[in-house]
Amino acid sequence: MKSYKDLPSDAGSNIIGQVAAQSTRVQKRLASVKHTVAIMSGKGGVGKSSLTANLATALTLKGNTVGVVDADINGPTLAKMMGVRNATLEYSQTGVKPATTALGTKLISMDLLLAEDDAPVIWNAHTQKDAFTWRSTMEVSALREFIADTEWGELDYLLLDLPPGTDRLPNLAELVPDLGGVVVVTIPSEVSQLIVKKSVTMAKDILKIPIIGVVENMAFYICQHCGEEEPLFSAEESLNGAFQQAILGSIPFDPRLARASDNGTLYLDEYPDVPASKALIGVAEKIQAFFQGDTK
Ligand SMILES: Nc1ncnc2c1ncn2[C@@H]1O[C@H](COP(=O)(O)OP(=O)(O)OP(=O)(O)O)[C@@H](O)[C@H]1O
Ligand SMILES: [Mg+2]
Repeated sequence: MKSYKDLPSDAGSNIIGQVAAQSTRVQKRLASVKHTVAIMSGKGGVGKSSLTANLATALTLKGNTVGVVDADINGPTLAKMMGVRNATLEYSQTGVKPATTALGTKLISMDLLLAEDDAPVIWNAHTQKDAFTWRSTMEVSALREFIADTEWGELDYLLLDLPPGTDRLPNLAELVPDLGGVVVVTIPSEVSQLIVKKSVTMAKDILKIPIIGVVENMAFYICQHCGEEEPLFSAEESLNGAFQQAILGSIPFDPRLARASDNGTLYLDEYPDVPASKALIGVAEKIQAFFQGDTK
């Protein structure tokens, strides 16, 4: 299949010009962002969005100005998790103002643009069968617009919550060429580790993007009655053995965290002293330490 770059004529659409103009806008917007961090995992459902929401809150609580891009265009969850689903976006000549959480973290998400609760994202095409061909291109375009057209202002950190799939990072790397680093999320199951290792290879060896480290989520469960730590999954290989990357932390499963996500309340603010919060704050500190000395 030919890409738009191979077409002899663009039928007057100036598609290459449009993409170039948008890319320039992305670069201009990112000039006021100190550090961009992608939260990724080839695997679905391991807690990427929950960690993004909580790490953004942790970095905000530490006095940073933080923005979040919900890069999951088809399955956006962050507006709900961060309690800003009812926000009304304000548009101006220079872009759209992001939603802001109770603590001041900024967020842009496709969810904020959909009028109805149960409305899916449908890419316009002649038929939905044709839409399949365009979906990936449209997703990248939507993401490019999110970054370029949002009035982020000066940010210390811009976190990008990626959807599952090993192929997501190359798309992002093309949009954000000087991505500061990647946080890789896994759970202690061999199935997860198998897929997540592929994402690490993609980031490190193929795209040459710095890996900040690996976070193990839902690492264990703390019994509410006796306080014992119980494993939730069964991976035998240690994280160090499986990844040979910096381990940023192990976050226990905490039903209150899942509830906070569902209720749109800020878990770290509600439960600052519980083990999962302490582990999340530890991860945020390691992210900060990773960029220490980086004077952009
Ligand atoms: N440490 C945790 N303790 C309790 N619940 C958790 C924890 N981490 C994640 N969850 C819950 O697990 C579910 C999946 O998490 P989440 O949506 O963050 O995963 P994801 O990797 O972003 O999924 P997707 O691949 O679909 O984007 C959510 O209901 C979330 O609240
Ligand atoms: Mg998610």
